[in-house]
Amino acid sequence: MKALVTGVAGFIGSSIAARLLQDGWSVVGIDAITSYYDPDLKISNLNQLRGDFRLVRSDILQADLPNLLDGVDVVYHQAGQPGVRASWGSEFSIYTRQNVDATQALLEAAKNSKRLHRFVYASSSSIYGNAEKYPTTEETTPAPVSPYGVTKLAAEHLTTLYGTNFGVPTVSLRYFTVYGPRQRPDMAFTRFCRAAIERLPISIFGDGGQIRDFTYVDDIVDANLRVALGPDLSPGSVFNVSGGSNVSVNQVLDLLTELADEPLDVSYGQRVPGDVLQTGGSSEALRAATGWEAKTTLRSGLGQQLEWARSCLKQTQ
Ligand code: UGA
Repeated sequence: MKALVTGVAGFIGSSIAARLLQDGWSVVGIDAITSYYDPDLKISNLNQLRGDFRLVRSDILQADLPNLLDGVDVVYHQAGQPGVRASWGSEFSIYTRQNVDATQALLEAAKNSKRLHRFVYASSSSIYGNAEKYPTTEETTPAPVSPYGVTKLAAEHLTTLYGTNFGVPTVSLRYFTVYGPRQRPDMAFTRFCRAAIERLPISIFGDGGQIRDFTYVDDIVDANLRVALGPDLSPGSVFNVSGGSNVSVNQVLDLLTELADEPLDVSYGQRVPGDVLQTGGSSEALRAATGWEAKTTLRSGLGQQLEWARSCLKQTQ
């Protein structure tokens, strides 16, 4: 089996590629290695990939997409401009280009592939905004509160449209705040773990009461593999993938204090526009369709991320 993984040098893309290669897949990865965060971290993710792997270092919009899709059974489309809080202002055009335009180009190319068995799009819990109800089901009306969420929703709609109109075998997975080893340096857990180890200050946006349904990266990888290889799914299907933790940022800080066995230096500031107050997803639809369940508890997953952060810091010392 052959897969195309977009955003293969990133946190989730490299985790999916590593698992596929371990399972004996042939993997072609595309990544522009942009400077949203330190490119060396992405190169390091790539250097850990072993097996039948080929990297195409390119922007999706500049790539020869028909050639890239040649012989591909499954597309795992993880590329995109991330960051909820950074998506305001003049940067927005980067979000529309990398999230909406790139997805449309990839879908257009996928439309012409006779071989493609599945096209998995990495959607986001940010499409819900402050949801009408919790646990949030897929039928809930999307109402993003960040420009980032708007672009992830637009791309998700496109993904569904190419499924329903042209039969492209698409599935969108709405990831709820993914964490674990290789997590992006701008995200909360990577920042908090690093601060705990190096005894640096931690800044919380708001009072720390915001709630997240944190999801461990291995569970996200498992969800991707299950929808790609599992039962027949209608083109254009959409599923939540949520870890089930539903904890506040303050509860995360308490757990980290315990795991690191260090008091944390925490200060509280202003809330940031675009930051959702609460996420909490129902993954019941995904469980019913594929048998998927989150296997990693927050305690275990945060412990593994802390160990990973320690090993990364040791390497740079
Ligand atoms: C994350 C990802 O960054 C998005 O790409 C993704 O689409 C989104 O999850 C999602 O689930 O859809 P976010 O929930 O903001 O977004 O993830 P974190 O960076 O882990 O932040 C969690 C919470 O901690 C947020 O409320 C944030 O404001 C807070 N935080 C983060 C701080 O208080 N301080 C920090 O230094 C970092």
